[in-house]
Amino acid sequence: MTAQTTKSPQLANKTPQLVGKHPDTRHGVILYVEDVNLSFDGFKALNNLNLYINKGELRCLIGANGAGKTTLMDVITGKTRPDSGKVNFGQNIDLLSMDECEIARAGIGRKFQKPTVFEALSVFENIELSLSGDKGIWASLFYRLSPEQKDSIDNILRTIGLVNEAYYPAGRLSHGQKQWLEIGMLLAADPKLLLVDEPVAGMTGQETERTAELLTSLAGERSVVVVEHDMAFVRSIARQVTVLHQGSVLAEGTMNDIQSNPEVIRVYLGEETDH
Ligand SMILES: Nc1ncnc2c1ncn2[C@@H]1O[C@H](COP(=O)(O)OP(=O)(O)OP(=O)(O)O)[C@@H](O)[C@H]1O
Ligand SMILES: [Mg+2]
Repeated sequence: MTAQTTKSPQLANKTPQLVGKHPDTRHGVILYVEDVNLSFDGFKALNNLNLYINKGELRCLIGANGAGKTTLMDVITGKTRPDSGKVNFGQNIDLLSMDECEIARAGIGRKFQKPTVFEALSVFENIELSLSGDKGIWASLFYRLSPEQKDSIDNILRTIGLVNEAYYPAGRLSHGQKQWLEIGMLLAADPKLLLVDEPVAGMTGQETERTAELLTSLAGERSVVVVEHDMAFVRSIARQVTVLHQGSVLAEGTMNDIQSNPEVIRVYLGEETDH
């Protein structure tokens, strides 16, 4: 352990952001999105977007279909480049200068809507693979886990509530359990910021409730941004809610602030309750 944390002479004099790329969150902010613009064939998907996510917070992002929520996640994770603006991880890490792998390695995990677990492998093995990172599937499966790695998988299994299913093939899990496993796989990389797009779509009521508990428990140690249309779910987890509309922030505040905001009711909530 000591050997790993000792800086080499070449690195010792460099600024902290160049050593291991740790986000500088001394101002309490883990993600800065400033004046971001992105057009697709002249259509402004993101329009002078400004968003700040605090260290350790759980933020819900809501907005009508096409508001730009997924596009924002694409920009943060390096999948799509904006036309202009600034996206920083902490004060020091410029995400726009990094590719998707570098961004993931810096500590940003993203969960897509569709679970992508290895169905033939056990729940435990799926997490084991994520833990071992770039080694590849065969090397990882025959590689001996250290007691610390085994403990960390056990901790993840407890967090995601799949201790009893640890040795089931992932293909036998319910839709909700697969979603939790995928969150567990992301946790193996110990992200500091977790982006989760529509986590409860297709879940049963009980699965939705457990997902609310899980995401709430993940915040604190890390920051979590959740995009979701299910308003009851958002209400059950939200501290701060940001409403996106046509690629910009329309409103930000507690769920009560948001639900009584006339603009939000007009462009989003009103429309939702009409269905
Ligand atoms: N690669 C792309 N090429 C062209 N247009 C795109 C592309 N990606 C997104 N868009 C457009 O950008 C707008 C924002 O889409 P986005 O997927 O971010 O919305 P969203 O808020 O996630 O919506 P939903 O709630 O339906 O998931 C939409 O009008 C979409 O059609
Ligand atoms: Mg979307």
